[in-house]
Amino acid sequence: HHCSSSQTSPSGPFGSELSLTLQVQKHLEPFRLSLEKLQDVSARLRKDMIRGLGKHSHHRASVKMLPTFVRATPDGTEKGDFLALDLGGTNFRVLHVRVLEEEQRVLKMDSQICAIPQDIMLGTGEKLFDHIAACLAEFLDSQKLRGQTLPLGFTFSFPCEQKEIDKSILIRWTKGFNCSGVEGEDVVNLLKEAIHRRGDYDISSVAMVNDTVGTMMSCGYRDQSCEIGMIIGTGTNACYMEEMKNVKRVEGEDGRMCINTEWGGFGDDGCLKDVLTEFDEEVDKTSINPGVHTFEKMISGMYLGEIVRLVLLKLTEEKLLFRGCPSEALLTPGSFETRFISEIEEPDSGLENAKKILTKLDLDWDLVDACVARLVCDTVSSRSARLCAAALATIVNRIRINRGLDHLKTTVGVDGTVYRKHPNFSDELQAAVRLLAPKCDVTFLISEDGSGKGAAMVTAVAQRLALQSRLLEDSDGEDEEEEEEEKCDANI
Ligand code: GLC
Repeated sequence: HHCSSSQTSPSGPFGSELSLTLQVQKHLEPFRLSLEKLQDVSARLRKDMIRGLGKHSHHRASVKMLPTFVRATPDGTEKGDFLALDLGGTNFRVLHVRVLEEEQRVLKMDSQICAIPQDIMLGTGEKLFDHIAACLAEFLDSQKLRGQTLPLGFTFSFPCEQKEIDKSILIRWTKGFNCSGVEGEDVVNLLKEAIHRRGDYDISSVAMVNDTVGTMMSCGYRDQSCEIGMIIGTGTNACYMEEMKNVKRVEGEDGRMCINTEWGGFGDDGCLKDVLTEFDEEVDKTSINPGVHTFEKMISGMYLGEIVRLVLLKLTEEKLLFRGCPSEALLTPGSFETRFISEIEEPDSGLENAKKILTKLDLDWDLVDACVARLVCDTVSSRSARLCAAALATIVNRIRINRGLDHLKTTVGVDGTVYRKHPNFSDELQAAVRLLAPKCDVTFLISEDGSGKGAAMVTAVAQRLALQSRLLEDSDGEDEEEEEEEKCDANI
């Protein structure tokens, strides 16, 4: 239709660059969040976290603050062989992991990626778990491990209401999954049932782990001040060690427990309305789970590319890009992959990459278009990094105040494709955290396979604690006598 080169503005492609820049900037303005705005977002999250921790208020909390029953980080005495499953990131994986006490190291002996076809991601739960059990069987055979009954760490990166380390009820699917008959069910049971249906192998104990927790734990073996785990990948989320006295939903006042914040759900009650752009609203509407995981949809890899596509499309409709001509590809949801953002923002090759990508998307671009596309990518990824920073700042500030410290030095274990692959995401995140949590000195440690090794670590720590508590039970009698004696002493 009205797409032809004659659409170029009369002053030539570069003549009205200044007014073009101004008009583009106007459309990008809603993505730019000031420091004050970020502080405000952080304050809102702080309130929501408190609500999520409350005994009664948690029912209506959008930030779920789920107890994980992980009460201790590694102490360096864990050891043994473990299996790990990792579901919910970019790939589904099966791993064999060895924890070596002498060297304080976690070795990945071997691992295998199993594809999960789309029809299984959206099919029945039974099919999904049969598929998982089949992948595990294949792996055990290839590793000649079928005879051994090893403990298994299951990294299941979805919000789960955990009753114990081995009882974990799926609250709801997020990201690309939507299998029937799993929400409200105990995932450990579903896995065990699938393995029993086969009947040709078995596993021993199972520990359920969110990927954030696995990430924290895998870093914790190397750096024992690591008490936060954060993921910025397909989805986004964080966990941290909270004081038991604040975890109102679990009995006991002493020590700490790791809380899976599920910060992806922040804003689901509408409290981020003023931050959302029209593009975020569109992404939400066309997602498979409209209305949920609002914060995640502004930040994580599953959605960033789509936000950029919608902005490019809008700018095209406004005749600020591609002479007003969108291509079939640009009109197709999901066609602008999140990895394109990283490629286009690459400091040296970025502009060249932009040209290749725009060509691949069948767009009729000029140099200005390529630069504008780069600006859009930068704007969308910066907002993601800064929103993450606001959320992380809320956590580190909370830990500092929890402990009554003037200054907190802490380490965050991080993983996820966005954090790892984007050229300056981590720098922007760190810079903003420094501004938003000035009294905290935060070190970021990239986790080496947190979902695999970390899951094994959680299983190992759970075993160590189980062993220790068994020892305590054995010596129960003596303890009581000692206590009695102490009481007598006190009475004298
Ligand atoms: C989603 C899941 C959460 C997970 C995160 C990162 O937000 O709900 O459990 O940790 O993605 O994978």
